[in-house]
Order: sequence, then structure tokens, then C-alpha cells
Amino acid sequence: MKNVIYFLFCWMIVPVYGQISSILPSPVTYVESEGTFQLNQALTVNPSEIHPGLLAQFTFLGETFQGLTIQTDVQNGMVNFKKLENVKQDSYSINVADRITISYSSDASCYYAMTSLMQLMKRNENGLSIPKCFVKDYPNYQWRGLHLDVARHFFTVEEVKRFIDLMSFYKFNTFHWHLTDDQGWRIEIKKYPKLTEIGAWRDSTVNEHYTTTPRTYTKQRYGGFYTQEQIKEVVAYAAEKYVTIVPEIEMPGHARAALAAYPEFSCTGKQQGVEGLWGIFDDIFCSKPESIQFLQDILSEVIPLFPGEYIHIGGDEAPKTRWHNCPKCQGIMSANHLKDEHELQSYFIRQMDAFVTSKGKKMIGWDEILEGGLSPNAAVMSWRGFDGGLEAAKQGHYVVMTPGSHCYFDHYQGKGKDEPLAIGGYTSLEKVLSFNPCPADASPEVAAYILGGQANIWTEYIATFSKVEYMTYPRAIALSEALWSTNRLKYPDFLSVLVQTHFPLLDHWKVNYSKSALKASLKTIRTNTGIELQSTGMLIEEGKLKESTLSFPVTRTKKKTKKAEFTIHPEDPSITQHIVITNHLALGAKVNYLTQPSPKYNASDVVLFDGQYGARPWKGHEWIGFDTNVIVLEIDLGKVTNIHEVKVSFLQDENSWIHAPYQLEIASVLPKRNNGIGMGEGVSLDGYAPNSEIWNLPYKGKTQILRLTITGSPTIPSGLPGEGNMPWIFIDEIQIN
Ligand code: ACM
Ligand code: ZN
Repeated sequence: MKNVIYFLFCWMIVPVYGQISSILPSPVTYVESEGTFQLNQALTVNPSEIHPGLLAQFTFLGETFQGLTIQTDVQNGMVNFKKLENVKQDSYSINVADRITISYSSDASCYYAMTSLMQLMKRNENGLSIPKCFVKDYPNYQWRGLHLDVARHFFTVEEVKRFIDLMSFYKFNTFHWHLTDDQGWRIEIKKYPKLTEIGAWRDSTVNEHYTTTPRTYTKQRYGGFYTQEQIKEVVAYAAEKYVTIVPEIEMPGHARAALAAYPEFSCTGKQQGVEGLWGIFDDIFCSKPESIQFLQDILSEVIPLFPGEYIHIGGDEAPKTRWHNCPKCQGIMSANHLKDEHELQSYFIRQMDAFVTSKGKKMIGWDEILEGGLSPNAAVMSWRGFDGGLEAAKQGHYVVMTPGSHCYFDHYQGKGKDEPLAIGGYTSLEKVLSFNPCPADASPEVAAYILGGQANIWTEYIATFSKVEYMTYPRAIALSEALWSTNRLKYPDFLSVLVQTHFPLLDHWKVNYSKSALKASLKTIRTNTGIELQSTGMLIEEGKLKESTLSFPVTRTKKKTKKAEFTIHPEDPSITQHIVITNHLALGAKVNYLTQPSPKYNASDVVLFDGQYGARPWKGHEWIGFDTNVIVLEIDLGKVTNIHEVKVSFLQDENSWIHAPYQLEIASVLPKRNNGIGMGEGVSLDGYAPNSEIWNLPYKGKTQILRLTITGSPTIPSGLPGEGNMPWIFIDEIQIN
């Protein structure tokens, strides 16, 4: 009742509402009134009002974010705490008037109120000020998760604690700790010491993107693991910040590190090392009773370490090749009337479900555990889109949505060529903010089973903790906005609060967050004389974030290739982009495709002549892709032009079935007024050269229209991925000098 009174009171003096606060995720209600609460470097609290754990967190937050001391030797503190009853789960309110009152329903919500209070503080010449205001808040979704893969790369206890500090500051409450995978086993298991003696260490790690050919490796022992004592320490640390840890022990796939230590639990028994390459591997745990026992023994040690409700058993990406050829697996299938290996996986997972349930826990697994039938108590983490999660929810199973499209933070977050290497894909800040764990058209029955959402931070390409921060922030803040807030901010408002309040907070904490979202987006358009590069980006003007577009026209030139450099956003060097335009005679030329490109890879019709070579490694855009092996296209230069060289750039990416061609032919097309269409002089260049991505054709002549005929191999040579299939041909750029 008191809150309602405060609310009305504030509303009466300042008749504005629906204001935007500096808190992210944004609260349910924020009403600002006249004036500020001014403080110097200290806040006072009567220590009898909250328990010591919360007081310690208040001290930590104050010091970390605002250089603020919390003094506790007072009767009447500047901040008062009050317990709320009969309100929504994890509700809190903050009233900032002549004093500050935090009302909370649970300890977690008191912690959330403290994080919000820190975010309301603004630094000025007299210290810190807080706008007089009323905040009312509670979460929309209960599962607000971040995952961290410590198997592909290992992060220390201190780094994991920092990860938890940061996530809890943004009101995440679930840390999914991916502890085992093909490339490393990271948790001490006393019954099976070789899991960490052998399984925690690999002898080599693949360099660059794993699709880069030829593959090279760093031949260096790499690894690490957590003792059970360290695990307990991290679990207790997380609990102080109201974060529950969900451990993941992967099975039956992603098992190569465990099988390097105990090959007897595979189907073949073959001894292999801990894997140094990324991917999916055929050797998985056998479904025989001894392997089930081994895994249940492991779970018996893992479960008591983690007081949370859920235990994650993986279940994703388990090839069935070994099971198909294993007499023991086939015997289990026939004895149990299982029709295929998917049903065998389901049979395997059911045994884990029964075991986890018998220990008083709930089992969760990736959405592949739906295949072959979902076991009775399982919850599902839906990563291959939303469908698996929706299907599980329809069947009455709890679901956490973590679709690659919005929640994979190992994807690129910017399109600039200076983005650090990522696995691929593109998941922008704006895309993350648009995430809805529960699709708008889901029925209330289905919606009731959707617990929330989570971002996954897979670390194949994230070797340092500083890069973990770069890939996670600020996208995690957008995810929290999507999961917590019932009043989700629109993207420009979100960005404005992020840049003005949260980037400085993260700077203060020395977090290596990304500013990719502030980089201009670039578009090239054709003009009569060449191209125009248009850059649209955000600029802060008079304290407001504004969209602004700058244009750079480039006129094609007869001169030798010339490079132009444009600097965008010169006021902030960290978001400046240098764009190099390779000028040439066909800049902005029109193309007539006699062979149509694949609609999936047809970026825009100016891309072949925009003076910008497609990025390598390929990120799925900027290139024109053809799924045929003979391509004919004509280039219209606009007027008869003297030419001496044609340079064509192809992509070679064998793992994506993309190959450079083996023949190029070039000819001038005679103008129609020469009595019909005819062909002029031409040249051709032959030779299958798998790695020759740039072809230079000497061509001496005068023409307006050039015809290019490109012939690729009809089949991918044997020994290469996709052998026997027709390769793709990808082009960007066609440069004419
Ligand atoms: C996954 O990304 N394989 C769950
Ligand atoms: Zn087997």
C-alpha cells in the first residue's frame, strides 16, 4: 500500500510518466520527480536492517561501480530497507526522496534493487547524485541465463567469478557451466582421476578458423581443470550474488576428452588423444551398461556439488555411426525393441533422467533429446531454433529457449572486417534485443512451460577472458532486457541508455566490451559516374543519440588503381572504420546475369563492382554465389572503354563446398548497331588451380560490354568435403583496368 501512495504522490508533483531510467534491464515503472539526492563518497546504512551477506554485496557493488563506501555505524541510514509481502516473485521498489527506501520481497530482489540503485547514480563535480524517483520492478522470466564453455578454452576460478559478478549486475540468475567436451574435461572426479590427469589436457589446438586450409596446429600442451573444492568455492560465490549454477556433463556425444582417459567406455575401445580440432566427432560413449554406470558414477560426484535444481546432460550432436556398427549397442537395441539409434539415444537419456530424478534433481538437455522420444522428467534447452522447445512445451516439459539466431554469442556482432575471429553467423545487439523466448502466437498452455532464455558462449574462437567479455557485452545486457523487462525499450532508447550510463560503468570496471553496435552500417549504391558509399551510424548530439548518414561519392577513373580511404566517426577512434575502395574502370558497372546467382547469396547487384573485395574468411555475405558450374554474365561499362586487364576474385572455401573455377573466358559483345549481336575478340585462361582465388586476364581491347564465361569443375574432387557433388562458385569483385 505504501508503494501505491508513493507512486501517486510522485505522479502528482511531476505529471510525467513512462520516463526512461538509466537502469538496464529497464524496470516495470520509473517515475522521476524534481531534484536529486546528493551524496559524496559514502552511503550510510543501519546494518541491522539487512543480513550481512547483502550488506557485503552492497559494499562490493558500491566500490566496484561507483568508488563508493558503505558506512554501517549508524541508526538512521541514508538507505532504509523494508520487506515486502504478497507481491510478485522477486519484486522490489526504490524510492529516492530525502532518503532512499528499498523495499524487497526476497533477498535476490534486494540485491537487484542494489544493482539498480548503482545504475541510477550519476557522477558530477560534487560527487554522486541520484534523481529523486520511484522505481518498481520485477522479472518477466524466471530463467535468465548465460552459459560459458570452459572446455574449448579454460578460464580460471577468478575469471569465472568475474563473469558471475558481471552477469549478476545485469540481473541474470543462472550460470550454465559447460564443463566437459571433446577438447577438455574440466571437473575433478575422485573415482576416475584420469578424467583430469589425461582428459583435461590436449597436445595441440587448431589455428585460425577450423575451415582454413591447409589446417595448422599449435603443438602445445593446453588445459586445466577445477578441483571439487574450487567448484564449491565458485558455487558459494555465485549464491551470494543470487546466481544458480547448472553444471553440464556432456553425453553421449562430445566425449572425446573422457574417452581419451577411459577408452573402454567407447564402442571401439580405440585409444585416441584429447581432440585439438573443433567439430563433431564419431567416437561417443557406448550405450552399454558399463558406460552408463561410469557416467552415473560421475553424476554421483557432480550432483552434491551443485545445490541448484537442474543438472544438464548435454545430448546434442551425437553421431550414430559407432552405435550403428557396435554389436553391444545393436544388442541393446534389439533386446529393448528400439527401432533405430535415435530411440537408443532416448533409451540412454532415460536412464540418466531416472538417475538424476532419483537424486532429487531435474535433468535438462539440448533439444536433440527430443529425438526418439523425450524422457518423462526432462527439461529441454532449445538451441536449433524455437521449434524443439515449442514441441517439448506442448508435451508438457519445461523449456529454456536459446536459439542460435538470437542467443549464440560466439557469432559475429558486427560486420566490420576488424571484428575478431568468430565461429561465423551474425547476431547483432539489435537482434538480441528483439528476442522473445515465447513466440507471440504460443498458447497460454505452451507459454506456461517456457522458463526463459539464455545466451551461450562457446569458446572455440575465444581463447582469452578479455575476448569472453568482448563477445558477451553489451549483448548480454540486451538479452537481460529481453528476459527481465516487461517494458522492453525500443532499440534507439536502449542504445542511448547503454552508451550514456552503462559504457562508463563498464569502463570503470575495465570490462572489454564491444562497441561494434555503434559502428556505421555501410551501403554502396550505383551512381552515373561510379558509386556512392553511404554510412549510417549513431552520433551523440546534445546528450541524445541520433542516427546520421554520411555520403562519400567515388568517381570511376581511367587512371591506375587508386585507393580511397574514408574515416567514419572521427570523434571516437575506437569505432572508426577505414574503408578501402579499389577504384577501377567498372566501378558501379551494371551486370546482366545470363546465369542467375543463388537467391541465398545475391548480396546486391552492385556488389561485384563496388570497389570492395569480399571478406576472407567468408562470413556468409558480401559475395555473389552460384550453385552451378557454368556461369555467363555481361558487364556494361556504360560507354566504349579501353581495357588492358580483367581481374576476377573467387572464394576458395573447401569446407563450405566453395571452389574457384578452372576456366575463364572473356569476350567483347559487339553493339547492336553493328547489325545484330555478335562477339568480338576474346581470350580465355584455363587451369584448375585450387588455391588461385584471384585471376588476372590480360585483355587488350575497346568495348562497352564484356561477356565473362566462368567454368568450374562439375564435381568436387575426391578426398575433399562434399566429394562428388557440384561445387559452388562465389565471386567478388570483378575489377577492370
Ligand atoms: C550446441 O550448440 N551444440 C548445443
Ligand atoms: Zn557401443
